[in-house]
Amino acid sequence: MRLSLLQLAASASTLAHTRGQPVEVDGRHGGPSSHAASISVSSTSPFGLTFSNGVVSAENTAILVGETNRSATPISASNDGSIGDSTGHISFSAVNSQVAKITINTTSSFVGARFTTSESDHFYGIWEYPFKNRQLTNDGVNFEIKGVENVRGVNYANARSPFFITNAGYGVYTDTLEMGTYNFEQSGVAEFNFNSSSLVYYIILPKETDDYKSIITAYSELSNTIYMPPDSAYGPIYWSDDWEQDLHGLNNSQESYYDTITHLYDYQIHGTAMFADRPYGTGNYSYGNFDFDPEFYPTPGQFIANLSNWGFDFQVWAANRAFLYTELYNVSVANGWLFPGIDPEFFLGPALNLSIPEAYDYFKQHLSYYPSVGVKGYKIDRGEEGELPVYEQNTQIALFEQLCWETMEEKWGEGNFYNFARNIVDRSRSRSAVWNGDAQSNWTGLAFSVTSGIRSGLIGFSQSEANAIASSTSSLTHHTGQWGSDTGGYLRDLDDPHQELWSRWMWFSTFSPMYEIPIGTNHTPWYPTETNPYTPELVQVLKESTDLHYELFPFIKSYTYQAHKTGLPAIRAAFLEAPQDPKTYTMGESYFFGAEFFIAPIITPGGRRSVYFPEGGKYLEYFNKTAVHEGGTTTDVEMDVHAIPAYVRAGSIVPRGQIFRGNDRWTANWMPYLDIEVFPSAEVPQSRFWYYNGDADEEVIIEMIMEGGKVVVQYGNVALNGTISAFLKGGKQTAEIHSGGGSVVFEECESLFE
Ligand SMILES: *[C@@H]1O[C@H](CO)[C@@H](O)[C@H](O)[C@H]1NC(C)=O
Ligand SMILES: *[C@@H]1O[C@H](CO)[C@@H](O)[C@H](O)[C@H]1NC(C)=O
Ligand SMILES: *[C@@H]1O[C@H](CO)[C@@H](O)[C@H](O)[C@H]1NC(C)=O
Ligand SMILES: *[C@@H]1O[C@H](CO)[C@@H](O)[C@H](O)[C@H]1NC(C)=O
Ligand SMILES: *[C@@H]1O[C@H](CO)[C@@H](O)[C@H](O)[C@H]1NC(C)=O
Ligand SMILES: *[C@@H]1O[C@H](CO)[C@@H](O)[C@H](O)[C@H]1NC(C)=O
Ligand SMILES: *[C@@H]1O[C@H](CO)[C@@H](O)[C@H](O)[C@H]1NC(C)=O
Ligand SMILES: *[C@@H]1O[C@H](CO)[C@@H](O)[C@H](O)[C@H]1NC(C)=O
Ligand SMILES: *[C@@H]1O[C@H](CO)[C@@H](O)[C@H](O)[C@H]1NC(C)=O
Ligand SMILES: *[C@@H]1O[C@H](CO)[C@@H](O)[C@H](O)[C@H]1NC(C)=O
Ligand SMILES: *[C@@H]1O[C@H](CO)[C@@H](O)[C@H](O)[C@H]1NC(C)=O
Repeated sequence: MRLSLLQLAASASTLAHTRGQPVEVDGRHGGPSSHAASISVSSTSPFGLTFSNGVVSAENTAILVGETNRSATPISASNDGSIGDSTGHISFSAVNSQVAKITINTTSSFVGARFTTSESDHFYGIWEYPFKNRQLTNDGVNFEIKGVENVRGVNYANARSPFFITNAGYGVYTDTLEMGTYNFEQSGVAEFNFNSSSLVYYIILPKETDDYKSIITAYSELSNTIYMPPDSAYGPIYWSDDWEQDLHGLNNSQESYYDTITHLYDYQIHGTAMFADRPYGTGNYSYGNFDFDPEFYPTPGQFIANLSNWGFDFQVWAANRAFLYTELYNVSVANGWLFPGIDPEFFLGPALNLSIPEAYDYFKQHLSYYPSVGVKGYKIDRGEEGELPVYEQNTQIALFEQLCWETMEEKWGEGNFYNFARNIVDRSRSRSAVWNGDAQSNWTGLAFSVTSGIRSGLIGFSQSEANAIASSTSSLTHHTGQWGSDTGGYLRDLDDPHQELWSRWMWFSTFSPMYEIPIGTNHTPWYPTETNPYTPELVQVLKESTDLHYELFPFIKSYTYQAHKTGLPAIRAAFLEAPQDPKTYTMGESYFFGAEFFIAPIITPGGRRSVYFPEGGKYLEYFNKTAVHEGGTTTDVEMDVHAIPAYVRAGSIVPRGQIFRGNDRWTANWMPYLDIEVFPSAEVPQSRFWYYNGDADEEVIIEMIMEGGKVVVQYGNVALNGTISAFLKGGKQTAEIHSGGGSVVFEECESLFE
C-alpha cells in the first residue's frame, strides 16, 4: 500500500522533510475557536507521530490498516514518505493549541491507530460498563464499541464513546459511528480500529499538566454536550415495570398512578415525573400499535393532564422493535424495512432499518401519537439485543434517538421533555440522557452502578443534561447527558431489593444527577408483602434521601448547566478534582459530586466502609458537620441507613433550596427560595461557584472571601430571595439575600476546618 504523504503536514511540508525535526503547525486550518496554535508534530520510524504542545506529548506510535478487524497492522513509511504501492493519504492540522486532527484515507476495509505511554499508565473512557470486575481503568480490556449484554453487576450498561483519556496526560477522540474495537490488553498501549476505509481522529492535549478537565471540555467541543432538560428531569421519577399488575384492588393502571400520587402526598415525598415501562399498549409485547391499552388506560389524554396538574411529567417506553403482527410489524414487512435474517417468531421483534428514509418517517409519524396525548419523553430501550447487525448498532441507535427526539421536539419544543436511554453513543448525547441499564438488585449491582456512573462522566454522560455549544462541524448541537441508575436495581427476585440495600441505593441516587426509582410489582416501599416485609423506616429513608436530592436541585441544576457549557460531568472521577494524588487514578468506589462534595457510597451490607480522602484540602462530614478529615488520610466509617458518607470540601459554596415545586401540594402558598450554604476556611481564602439562574445569557457568580476572621460572600443575580448560611465553629450564621445580587459579611468567624 502506498500513502501519498503530500498532505501530511498540511501547513508546512511533507513528512520526509520533517523527519526528526518538529514542525510548527499553525491553527489556520482549525475552526472558529482556534488560538494561535502551536502543536508540534514529529515523526518516528517506521511510521508514527508525536504531538506536543509543550505541556504533554502524545505518542501516536502507529497507524493501522488491514482487511479484517483482527488483521490491521502498522503501516511503514520509507524516507520519501511513500508507503507500499496502494493509494491513500494521511493529513493533519491543528484545530487549536489543544487539538490536532488526523484524517486517514485508504483503500483498506479497516483503519486504526496505536498509542503508547509508559508501562504503568492507564487508559480511561470508551465504555460506561466497568469491565474486569468494576475497574475504573480499561486495563486488560479488548472489546468492540458496542453494547454489553448480560454481564456481571449490570446488564446493558451501554453508554459509549470513541474517546479515551490516559493519565499520560492526553485524550484521543475518533469521530465516527462505525463499529470498531478498542484494545487495552497490553499495558501502556491503546489500539483501535474501525470498520471503515477512512477515519478522522483528534489528539487532545491539556491546557496545563494534569488538567484532565480541559481534555474533556475540548472533547465536548468536538463532539457535543448536553442540553438543559426540563426541571422535572432531576426527579425523583417513579416508574413501574408493569403498571398493569399489583393494583391493590384498584380498577386500572391510571388508578394505580393516582394511588402513588396520594401516597407521596400523604408522606410529603417529592416527585417530578412518572413513566410507564412496558406493558402499556396493545398488541404483542404491548408495543407497536401506537396506543394505550384501554383496559388499563381508559382515558389517556385526561389521565396525563391530571398527572400534570399534580406536578408530574409522564414518559413511556420506546424501542426500535417490531413485535409480531403489530401495526409496526405488518407495515414494515409489507415495505421490506426489517433487518433481514432475523426470524420474527423465533426472535420476537426485529428492528427496522432506519437508514431507509421511508421507514424512519413512518415510525416517527406514528410514534408522534404519544406526545399528541401529553407524553413528555421516552425511556428508550434496546437496539443492542440482537435485533439488528452488530456493525449497525451505533448508527441505528443514533437514528432512533434522533427520531424519538424529533417527535417530542416538534410538539413541546426543546428543553420541555425528557428522553433517556441505556444504549447510547456519544453523538446522541444531544438527544437523550442515560440510565445505567438493568442493574442486579443486590450489592454487586449497586457497586457496579457506582463505578459505571463515574465512568460515564469520563465520556461526557454523567453531566446532568445536554446543551448547545459550537462544534467543529456544525453551528449548534444539543444534548442531554443526565445520568441515573434504577434505585434498588432492576433484576429483582421476589424478595428484592432488601431494605438495607434499597436504603443505601436511595442515598446514592441523592448524589446522582437523576434520581429514578422503580416501584410496583410487589416492590413498593409503602406496600410491604410477605417476601418484602418493608418497614416504615424504608419510607422514611425514601423521604430523607429524596428531600436532600430535591434541596440540592439548585446545586445539581447549576452543574447540569456547566455540563451543558463545558462537558464536565456532575459525577467526577476523583482524579479530575485531585490529579496530584496518585491514589485517585484507580478510585472507582468514591467520587466528587461537582467540585464541592466527595461521596463514598456504602456498597456492602453492614453499614461500614473505609473512606480515603484525596490529597489537597480538608473535608467536613456533611450530615452532622462536625468531623473534619485531612486529605491523604483514611477513615473507617460506620453509618446507619439515614445517611451516606458525604463530605464537603473546605471553602465550598453549595446552593440549596426549594426552587421547583413538582408535586409539593402539601405546602400552603408554596414559594421558591434559595439557601446558599458556605463552608469558610482560611486555607481557602477565595472560592467561587458558577450558579445557573435559568437565564442562559447571564453568568452568575457566587464568591466567598475569608480573611482574618471576616467572611464576605458576594453574589450576582441569583433570581430568588433567600438566605446564606455560613457553617462555623459555634454554629450556623444566617443572613438574608436578595434576588438581584449583593453581598453579605460575617464577622469574627472561626472556621470549622481549622
Ligand atoms: C471482529 O468483528 C466480529 C464481528 O462483529 C467480532 O465478533 C469480533 O469480536 C471482532 N474482533 C475484534 C478483534 O474486534
Ligand atoms: C477522507 O476521509 C474522511 C473521513 O472519513 C472523509 O470525510 C473524506 O471525504 C475522505 N477524503 C477523501 C479524499 O476520500
Ligand atoms: C372501580 O370501578 C367501579 C365501577 O366504575 C367504581 O364503583 C369503584 O369505585 C372503582 N374503584 C376504585 C378503587 O376506584
Ligand atoms: C386526578 O388525580 C387525582 C390524584 O392523583 C385523583 O384522586 C383523581 O381521581 C384524578 N382525577 C381524575 C378526573 O381522574
Ligand atoms: C404474538 O406473537 C406470537 C409469537 O410469539 C404469535 O404466535 C401470536 O399470533 C401473536 N399474537 C398476536 C395477537 O399478534
Ligand atoms: C397484522 O397482520 C396479521 C396477519 O395478517 C393480522 O392478524 C393482524 O391483525 C395485523 N395487525 C394489525 C394491528 O393490523
Ligand atoms: C439499511 O439500509 C441502508 C439504506 O437503504 C442500506 O444501505 C443498508 O445496507 C441496510 N442495512 C442492512 C443490514 O440491510
Ligand atoms: C463491516 O461492515 C460491513 C458493512 O459495511 C459488514 O458487512 C461487515 O460485516 C462488517 N464487519 C465487521 C467485522 O463487523
Ligand atoms: C447479584 O446477582 C448476580 C446475578 O444473579 C450474582 O451473580 C451475584 O453474585 C449477586 N451478588 C451478590 C452480592 O449476591
Ligand atoms: C450524626 O450524629 C448522630 C448523633 O451522634 C449519629 O447518630 C449519626 O450517626 C451521625 N451521622 C453521621 C452521618 O455521621
Ligand atoms: C425579593 O424580595 C424583594 C423585597 O422583599 C421583593 O420586592 C422581590 O419581589 C422579591 N423577589 C423575588 C424573586 O421573590
